[in-house]
Amino acid sequence: MHRDSALDDAARQHLEAVGDGLLEFVADGGGLLLTHGAVEAAAELGIEAYEPDSVGRVDVDETGFLVRRLFNDHPIFDGIDGLRPSIEPTMDAVSVHYDSLHPSDADVLAARRDDGADRPNRKSILRWEVGDGRVVGVGHGLAGLQTDVQETLLNNCLAYAAGEGSDPLTIGRPKGREEFEAMREAVPDANHRPAYHFTPPANWLNDPNGLVQWNGRYHLFYQYNPAGPFHDSIHWGHAVSDDLVHWEDEPIALAPDPEGPDAVGVWSGCFVDDEGTPSVMYTGGDDGDQLPCLARAKDDALRTWTKAPENPLITGMPDEVDVLQSIDWHAEFRDHCVWRTGDTWYQIVGSGIEGEGGAALLFESEDLLEWEYCHPILTGDWRKSGPIWECPELLRFDKGSLLHVSDYSKVAYFSGEYNEATKRFEPEDHGVLDHGVFYAPQSFEADDGRTLMFGWLKEDRDRAAQWDAGWSGAMSLPRVVSLSEDGTPAFSLPSELEALRDTHHSFSDLDISPGGKNPLADIKGDTLEIKMTVDARNVGEFGLVLRETPDGEERTVVRCKIRHREVVVDRSQSSNSHAAADSPHSMPITLDEDGTFSLHLFLDRSVLELFTNDAQALTSRIYPTRADSTGIGLYADDCEVTIRSLDLWELAAGEY
Ligand code: FRU
Repeated sequence: MHRDSALDDAARQHLEAVGDGLLEFVADGGGLLLTHGAVEAAAELGIEAYEPDSVGRVDVDETGFLVRRLFNDHPIFDGIDGLRPSIEPTMDAVSVHYDSLHPSDADVLAARRDDGADRPNRKSILRWEVGDGRVVGVGHGLAGLQTDVQETLLNNCLAYAAGEGSDPLTIGRPKGREEFEAMREAVPDANHRPAYHFTPPANWLNDPNGLVQWNGRYHLFYQYNPAGPFHDSIHWGHAVSDDLVHWEDEPIALAPDPEGPDAVGVWSGCFVDDEGTPSVMYTGGDDGDQLPCLARAKDDALRTWTKAPENPLITGMPDEVDVLQSIDWHAEFRDHCVWRTGDTWYQIVGSGIEGEGGAALLFESEDLLEWEYCHPILTGDWRKSGPIWECPELLRFDKGSLLHVSDYSKVAYFSGEYNEATKRFEPEDHGVLDHGVFYAPQSFEADDGRTLMFGWLKEDRDRAAQWDAGWSGAMSLPRVVSLSEDGTPAFSLPSELEALRDTHHSFSDLDISPGGKNPLADIKGDTLEIKMTVDARNVGEFGLVLRETPDGEERTVVRCKIRHREVVVDRSQSSNSHAAADSPHSMPITLDEDGTFSLHLFLDRSVLELFTNDAQALTSRIYPTRADSTGIGLYADDCEVTIRSLDLWELAAGEY
């Protein structure tokens, strides 16, 4: 079926008259190709629950398709090269796509490219399964056939709808392990996709959400876009683990509801144990509003969730505070950290106060549903910690409290006391939680009392490269967070991660000198753990070289500039690709009182996590292009260095 225009009343009546017969025909193994205005028929016929949110003319000089890596091998793209085929601008015909909405029942096979730019949110080629039959929707680009690409696509679509060829992936809404495995296999990106850090099965991941150990199992929910590796139409993805090392994909836990307060996204939030009922508080995004919403789990596997009918729980901004507005939002107001003291629930919400800076706004409630505004527990200075705070989290330890906030560029922490009487945070010190790409972290208390923190490791290559890879975003390793004697945050790695250790290389009292031999020359690998300790009292610079090609063309250098009390991840030669960032990441370091410097490092293909003296953290991303970028080196600059001990483990993959 094809229509040059949107469905009108007559067309709808016609569809109603023939609808049952048509559906029966498809369910019995028939096929249907819907082009342009006819794509609307999918929702009209009940094949798709959500109506497309973009039906109209998109005024462009040049257009094309943006094929998803995940569906690159789909038979409708046979004979069409690359992920970005161009076509002639379509004749004067309506085009249909799903924009901020993700269809409920379709697989999105491709989006649009307009005027030379990727438009991944303009989801234009769709596929449905109806009984034994196939339905394909192509929302633009097929009204006039002027290029070979258009003709090939049309012929392929017709052949596929008629039952020819098979789907490389029939994921729909993936439910089982096999479907998730197929997704992971379809987007391997072997040189960059981490082996033991959690990444999404395909597509996009950002913040960790709803972290909890429930009935012994660890649950990791995360911001997830099923439409591809870009940030839009955010759902909650879900994975579970028994040991923090091996993660198993679970079906999507929460999806936006086009009629609900979370129509444009189910954003970040936290787990709440409501007297035994597993619940989550999250931010619903809709029509310029960001508002708190609650959902309750229906099962102990935390698989099925019911959104509270009372949502959104807070509908307007408090009068007492001038919450920052932006072009996109009536009020910058999102992300939650909920706790209970006595019979009262409290939550802080990330926000910003006009003219002042980022703020963590405190609310209280008797029943988790009706919330009353109190005041900011802390407000920052926009010059130092940004105008908006996202993902605030208050952590309490015996020695004091830690409040951390994500201010778009970094994760700022404040250590001090949360005063239970005044309900305000009294900072004594502040700093940066991680000096690299680690963002929007969230923590939870494990059954054994450890506070475990995960953060989103942002990609550091351009959007087109992320699209081409088919996946974006990794979770950090879990970090055990505590407060040190001086009140600053301290990190250690959970002992569970030792299960990843494979071949071990151990060195002690290793002397290295400028221009000397590289003692690690025989070891190769892109998934490694390295622990080393150095007496750094009279040391200038030494360091490690990672992911180095034999000819040194690609290499990443971890420069321990002891004299300058700084560690720098030098990425100037990390990648031959212009898509990858090459600016250095750096962090200030301290030595132990006896002059000891210790470095704990995890390399996982494109991820590099560094910890020095269990206190400072830096996470970086590197994208070597060559398969032989696996060399490892140890060097000293301008001084002799004795490495007291160096342990290197080749790590195994943390299977899914
Ligand atoms: C932080 C953040 C949150 C928001 C979510 C949306 O990365 O911007 O503030 O809830 O991501 O995905």
